[in-house]
Amino acid sequence: MKRMRAGEKRKRTIRAAVLKWYRSHGRELPWRHERNPYRILVSEIMLQQTQVSRVLLLYPRFLQRFPTLGHLAVARTSSVIKAWRGMGYNNRALRLQQLARRVAAESNGLLPRSVEALMLLPGIGRYTAHAVACLAFGRRVPVVDTNISRILRRLFPSMSSFTQANGNDDWARAAELLPRRAAGTWNQALMDLGATVCVASSPRCDQCPLLSLCPSAHRVSRTKKRRTKPESGRSGIPNRIYRGRIVEALRALGRGQSMTPGTLARKAVDDFNKGDRGWFDSVLESLERDGLIRRRTRSRISLPA
Ligand code: ADE
Repeated sequence: MKRMRAGEKRKRTIRAAVLKWYRSHGRELPWRHERNPYRILVSEIMLQQTQVSRVLLLYPRFLQRFPTLGHLAVARTSSVIKAWRGMGYNNRALRLQQLARRVAAESNGLLPRSVEALMLLPGIGRYTAHAVACLAFGRRVPVVDTNISRILRRLFPSMSSFTQANGNDDWARAAELLPRRAAGTWNQALMDLGATVCVASSPRCDQCPLLSLCPSAHRVSRTKKRRTKPESGRSGIPNRIYRGRIVEALRALGRGQSMTPGTLARKAVDDFNKGDRGWFDSVLESLERDGLIRRRTRSRISLPA
């Protein structure tokens, strides 16, 4: 019983320290002034896989082009892909439009407010559903991204390696730490702490509001880079990069225009040669399967209409 109380007190101290730090060190980000759920959703989809600095540049341009979910739903898919320029991982643009079309058709253009209903929409996983439910609809739910997960693991290193690998404990810890009120402020405070102080490699423990409360303070060795499976590609460049280059080359086309695979290959691949044809075709096929390109005939390729 005593231990429980000690744990509760520690949590309270952690919350107060983080929130105080956030008041003077939180980042000024445009989506934090938004009340419109669609605009918050767009920011979260962008932030899934693109750095904040880049989203800051591209977010206003996208919203100017598609100011509401309705605008996005009725737009040509090619124009959505064009507006996604510079963001990377173009599949997100497609899924965002699919989401807009579904919500426009089935829910009068109103995004669902619960985590469960949000997770049924295209492109929305656990993280994004929680972030949108919390930040757009004021739901008291935890949010766990890689930054927040790192903070939790450093603050509560007792988690077993099994559950760490599993990831579930992060959500349980995040739920336990969640303050009763102002969950949105809390979650964004943790995001900022993870992005600016409790960073992966060489964290700035001296600047951390949790210095005296964190068992990992000054103990984090240079984090080993996790060995990830090498991505398939060509000449050491992953296919993901070539996919981006192919879509980028097609963005330059006007409405109704198309390109031959040969022209596209020369634009997107350095030193393209005959031996690359099979590989290049497989990359085109993957893009076509995803709906990012359209083959009008075998020899004409464009963005989807
Ligand atoms: N990363 C993901 N969501 C974010 C947000 N709302 N603010 C800052 N960084 C984020």
